[in-house]
Amino acid sequence: MRRGSAALPVLMLVAACGNEAETNPARLASPSDVTDEVLEAAAPNGDWLMYGGNYAEDRFSTLDQITKENVDQLGLVWSYDFDLRGGVETTPLVVGGVMYASGPWSVVHAIDARTGERLWRYDPGVPRIRGRLACCDVVNRGVAMYEGKIIVGTLDGRLVALDAATGEVVWDALTIDPNEAYTITGAPRVVQGLVIIGNGGAEYGVRGYVSAYDADTGEMAWRTYTVPGDPADGFESDAIEMAAATWSGEWWIAGGGGTAWDGMAYDPGLDLLYVGTGNGSPWSRNLRSPGGGDNLFLASILALRPATGEYVWHFQTTPGDHWDYTAVQPLTLADIEFDGRMRRVIMQAPKNGFFYVLDAETGEFLSGQPYITLNWADGLDLETGRPVERPEAVHTVDWTVITPAALGGHNWQPQSYNPLTGLMYLPIQEGWVERSEDPDWEFTDLQIADHSFGPAVNNLGHRSRSAGRDDPGFLIAWDPKAQEPRWSVELAGYWNGGTMTTATGLVFQGGGDGRFVAYDGENGDALWEASTHLGILGGPVTYLVDDQQYVSVAAGWGGARGRSGAPYGEAANYEQRGRLFTFAIGGTTPIPAARTKRPFFVPDLELPTDETALAAGRRLYGQYCGSCHGARGGSEGAMPNLQRSTAITHRNFERIVIEGSREEEGMPSFTGLLDADEVRLIQAYVVSGARASLAEASAADASPDSHD
Ligand code: HEC
Repeated sequence: MRRGSAALPVLMLVAACGNEAETNPARLASPSDVTDEVLEAAAPNGDWLMYGGNYAEDRFSTLDQITKENVDQLGLVWSYDFDLRGGVETTPLVVGGVMYASGPWSVVHAIDARTGERLWRYDPGVPRIRGRLACCDVVNRGVAMYEGKIIVGTLDGRLVALDAATGEVVWDALTIDPNEAYTITGAPRVVQGLVIIGNGGAEYGVRGYVSAYDADTGEMAWRTYTVPGDPADGFESDAIEMAAATWSGEWWIAGGGGTAWDGMAYDPGLDLLYVGTGNGSPWSRNLRSPGGGDNLFLASILALRPATGEYVWHFQTTPGDHWDYTAVQPLTLADIEFDGRMRRVIMQAPKNGFFYVLDAETGEFLSGQPYITLNWADGLDLETGRPVERPEAVHTVDWTVITPAALGGHNWQPQSYNPLTGLMYLPIQEGWVERSEDPDWEFTDLQIADHSFGPAVNNLGHRSRSAGRDDPGFLIAWDPKAQEPRWSVELAGYWNGGTMTTATGLVFQGGGDGRFVAYDGENGDALWEASTHLGILGGPVTYLVDDQQYVSVAAGWGGARGRSGAPYGEAANYEQRGRLFTFAIGGTTPIPAARTKRPFFVPDLELPTDETALAAGRRLYGQYCGSCHGARGGSEGAMPNLQRSTAITHRNFERIVIEGSREEEGMPSFTGLLDADEVRLIQAYVVSGARASLAEASAADASPDSHD
């Protein structure tokens, strides 16, 4: 029965373009109408039912009211404030005039899509101290919708199903061992009544897996590991036994990694679920698997049977990963002609810098080319797609310049594929870093159930430092058939938003500078833009309400680059707090003002200023605070800048840090971890940073060329 349905999206598209009556596709009344049948047909297109728009995850919409001719009349209709600090990476879902969006700390918001009014809000109550284990901010990329339920994965490893009408919990399933440093930031997918979810944590020493839960009951249906465990415990499957033959040493002690924290897709025709897997734990292959080997299934695309989790095929993008080159990046299915034959393909631009086109049924490598500058390989073997590694890139203790850097040429930011232009719209970035192996590395086994673990965690086995080069970001239109870019636009900075494309040939993308832009998909011309003042990362969506087409995007600077790093351009002047924006033709609501950053401030307090105290404060700060608040408290990103904190905050410093008076807002309590004297040393160190920043700022003001 499922055979042949893979071709459906293409057929619908032809109908939509050739027939006026198709301009207002049927819509669903409510999330109760979202069934397997609806999801498999990838219809109707008037709603946005899944994270990637449909199972093919192409983020292509057949809606055609907004065109190249009228897009310049887009205006804001409403905006909605996420009430907690932290990056917003969500792609909202919309059905029956209601939007469901996840925000920082896995909080779910149900919003009236006509007015922006809150209908309900669900906070899963993630203990804020878990934020210390989130390598890349307390973000969440989206919810799933199925038969009247909204399902979210939480930062502390739960899967929670909510009644879509009320936000009340229907079931709540723990998907991890709470003693291990797993986190969930990715969107669940629902296939044949099963909720599929992976997790992250390969920076902290975990073993990756993906699991499936019954959407009705929350009971686990299957779990498939992505890397082998200790052979003494037996292998879970033949596939894992095969994988174990590609590892050496005692890899299982540090978990191995391979976490599936983002990209998935499903092909109903082939009945295959695709899952991308992550980097090794530790990063260094020499420390992880000292005898060499490919270390399956790190940095791979896995094809699984969705009903059982059974392995069908794999394709490894970066054998023996040594550079944090995950292949969890978005996966997109399409029908593309290759050598005169239509092929069902799966496409990915993983972190390693190559764009891959594989046969979706078999995993056969069809083609691959670099989509960005890379220096770790000389190319791909034309037959197998295996990279031809440059020996000097497998650095040991010598410092070596590597590109792409750890955030990859492309990260989790959604890509979109337009079957009419035949182009993939891809947010990419060029990053350089100097790396060496950490000669003193020892695995730290975090026992985190009581969150009492002390020092900062570095389970990478690598040291890194700036390569002192610019890191530009681009939007490119990639032709997967020719394996080359058709056009490219340089953006204001490195870290930007995902894309969405429409039947009218438009591409929407937000930038790290807060601009939300509509591009001409043929040539990259910017046809319209609005400045939101807030760095944008998430994927835009489009949908109909009362037969009018809307476009929405969540702004909310943060994530791996923006937790403490500043956004770009005009957005750098403002405090970064998440906000969701909805636009339509003729919208006239002004973009709300953002709050200008406060100045650096040195409180009038008796705090130690001697070298010894500041050095002690620095060490404690680095261990407990730096991952969120940035170097010396000076975060210019999603987290507050402690060098700009007010006198009142400084008076309450101990209460905030030890007693947890701002816990609700996302600031963990360090009770039992730090005492009052230690907090005073940290405060002294932060204030010394404020003093230095203030001096620097006034020196810059006094300098004659400060107004260039
Ligand atoms: C998991 C991330 C995280 C860690 C780790 C963290 N903080 Fe925070 N902190 C936050 C967030 C989020 C807020 C903002 C809360 C709010 O909106 O009121 C905050 C707020 C604060 C504030 C109030 C700032 C202001 O100007 O309002 C202080 C002071 C502070 N943190 C100190 C610390 C210190 C000291 C440490 C280390 C001992 C630390 N924080 C560790 C996330 C973190």
